[in-house]
Amino acid sequence: MRDRNTGTHPPPAGLDDATVARWKAGVQAERERDRPPAGFPALPPIPGARYRDPAFFDLERQALWREGWIHAAHTDQLPAAGSWLVTRRTGSPVLLIRGADDRIRAFYNTCRHRGAPVARADSGSGAQSFTCGYHGWTYRLDGSLASVTDPRDFTDLDPSCLGLVPVRCERLGSLIFICESPLAPPLDEFLAPAARFLRHLPLDALRLVHHRSIEVGGNHKVVLENFLEAYHFRLLHMKTTHRIFDHQGTSVHLWRHGHSMMLSPHRRDDWVDPGTVGMPEMTGVTEIDRRFNASYNLFPNLILPISATGAPCVVITPLAIDRSRLEVLWYAPLPADGARHPLWEARIANFDRIVDEDVSFVEPIQASLDTAGFRGVPLNYQERRIYHWHEALDRRIGAHRLPPALRVQPVLEPWVTP
Ligand code: FES
Ligand SMILES: [Fe+2]
Repeated sequence: MRDRNTGTHPPPAGLDDATVARWKAGVQAERERDRPPAGFPALPPIPGARYRDPAFFDLERQALWREGWIHAAHTDQLPAAGSWLVTRRTGSPVLLIRGADDRIRAFYNTCRHRGAPVARADSGSGAQSFTCGYHGWTYRLDGSLASVTDPRDFTDLDPSCLGLVPVRCERLGSLIFICESPLAPPLDEFLAPAARFLRHLPLDALRLVHHRSIEVGGNHKVVLENFLEAYHFRLLHMKTTHRIFDHQGTSVHLWRHGHSMMLSPHRRDDWVDPGTVGMPEMTGVTEIDRRFNASYNLFPNLILPISATGAPCVVITPLAIDRSRLEVLWYAPLPADGARHPLWEARIANFDRIVDEDVSFVEPIQASLDTAGFRGVPLNYQERRIYHWHEALDRRIGAHRLPPALRVQPVLEPWVTP
């Protein structure tokens, strides 16, 4: 199938020279166009009820967060055997443990006796085992049941069947993903359409430089969709992003499984972020990483805007239909001693300022969603990643399970790069 972004055939994999040239041509085509490309469909409005219907919210939380892969943690948060943490990013309490064999495993944080949490705090280190605080059942770091209290009182207990219930746990470099469903494809297969363009980066060596977590008073889609388009740069980020990036040159790539990317060029080819001068570049970076911002959405809720010296990974988690958690996790190379370059403080603050600009509109939009004034969302060509995301959501839920008035009509398939 032809790649409708540039009209050429895509190379098989990787951010190689041909891909770089093709992506640059796509940016140039965006700068030169005076209307959407021939044949681009009108995007039907996204039904407003998708943002406020509690039954729809339950379906999407189940389909996306409970049945798909979700980025749960970074390996730096589990630095040594016996390190552990509890994540709630899928909505369930899940215990991640680095075992004596150095492998990171995930389990429901749920004692097999009567369901008490086996880890009571959010994180820790040096654990040899986990003892449930209720009656004392004890589990090894690999999740197996080591002992129960008063075994004489059980008549037919098989400890080998009563280990902590595992949750699937796989990695993209140093990024740990978990999945509660046995039916989802392997992580590599799920991420492949997008992650193949990240493989030139030292994903195993990226360190966790900084972690910010805030609660936002809005539906998770209101928060997420902001990160899927550059249409808002000119006004909302007038004094920040807009001064650096040319939103009219931003080209969009739609990939299978709901993944996508927008490639925003610097306004000036020779511009270098003064806030990163002297910071170590990642190995393997290309012209794309240096002169553009390639902002990936790994479906559903991970935003990764790549620069040559690292990336602020944004993770959005629904807490309720009108409340979300927004986390910013900076992933970048660090020296062996873990010391941060002195510029990091200002760099983190600069991105926080941009995020704060984005977040400033979330609560006011949320206040509109339940009113008769919010009828639906007419999206334009620049905003097509949002429509692509909604199409993927309906495929995950199963469109037949949705009332017709809540569905989005699938129209973008011909514009998805295979
Ligand atoms: S609930 Fe954990 S030992 Fe009883
Ligand atoms: Fe923004």
